[in-house]
Amino acid sequence: MDAAPANLAIAAAESFGTSLRDDVLAGLGAPRRTLPAKWFYDEQGSELFEAICDTPEYYVTRTELAILRANLDAMAAALPGGAVLIEPGSGAGTKTRLLIDACRPSAYVAIDISRSMLETGAAGTARLFPWLQVLAIHADYTRLDALPDDRLPSAAPRVLYFPGSTIGNFTPEETRAFLARAARWIGPQGSVLIGVDTRKEARVLEAAYDDSRGVTARFNLNLLARLNAELGCAFDLSRFRHRALYDPVAGRVEMHLESLVDQQVEVAGVLHDFSRGETIHTENSYKYTPDAFRALAASSGYDCRSTWMDAQGAFAIYLLAPRPGIGGASTGGSR
Ligand code: AVJ
Repeated sequence: MDAAPANLAIAAAESFGTSLRDDVLAGLGAPRRTLPAKWFYDEQGSELFEAICDTPEYYVTRTELAILRANLDAMAAALPGGAVLIEPGSGAGTKTRLLIDACRPSAYVAIDISRSMLETGAAGTARLFPWLQVLAIHADYTRLDALPDDRLPSAAPRVLYFPGSTIGNFTPEETRAFLARAARWIGPQGSVLIGVDTRKEARVLEAAYDDSRGVTARFNLNLLARLNAELGCAFDLSRFRHRALYDPVAGRVEMHLESLVDQQVEVAGVLHDFSRGETIHTENSYKYTPDAFRALAASSGYDCRSTWMDAQGAFAIYLLAPRPGIGGASTGGSR
């Protein structure tokens, strides 16, 4: 192992054990069973997600990378230099490195729920850019109210980078709440650069979430393996199967784990009945037309400054700025 780079700091971890258990008890106890998608990302799940990004069907990652590469100069011109770049759900950081190289921020804040991903990703980025101050925060960013301002350059403008269509895991209402919270993180002078998947044919979307090599199926089923390992559950993975369905009205791909038989499973000390065909809803991935996403951003207090897309319109990257005088980011205050 290499020593940790001098320009990398890792912020103290919170405890995730109790919140995983609480989420599982609540989600599996509900009449329509659900599990939050954020729990996919243990070490194995994070690796499987990286493998999904390399499948031929999952166009999301390579399309966003191509848009980024083609428009880096314009993005760098539209973003302030010397910024604090903040990335919730930082993961492996491939896109971020391109952006850092082009935009030259002064600091980079990586926030991730997966400790292994966070540390490898942030350490790799810190090594690549020795002039960059890197702060890695092991946290669930949906529960993080404030950034550690005392550890960040105070005068620098803030840029929130949220690639990958991760926003699609949130419902439109949750998206509004997330963007409102982001406005508090970045302040009135801040900006948001966000990658969002577009609506398209059901056939294409369902293949992207049910690849022929079965990587996405393994990713989804790994959630049950995680519950077995971390909460002592007794799921038999061969008695569930992966399903991916596009709901064109809601504009979302839903992933489910379907019980193949009538069965009882012990979950954190409680027996649960699963009937054959019953599912656990494990993920939503919302898709937005550009007009619909810009309208959602506007109703969350942001103006859209730029939209970058590929020629097919398969993916979009938006530059958003908090609208002056709206929401908590408007007047005075500490930021
Ligand atoms: C990382 C949340 C953007 O929803 O497309 C990929 C996760 N799930 N294949 C997505 C995912 C199944 C991915 N995000």
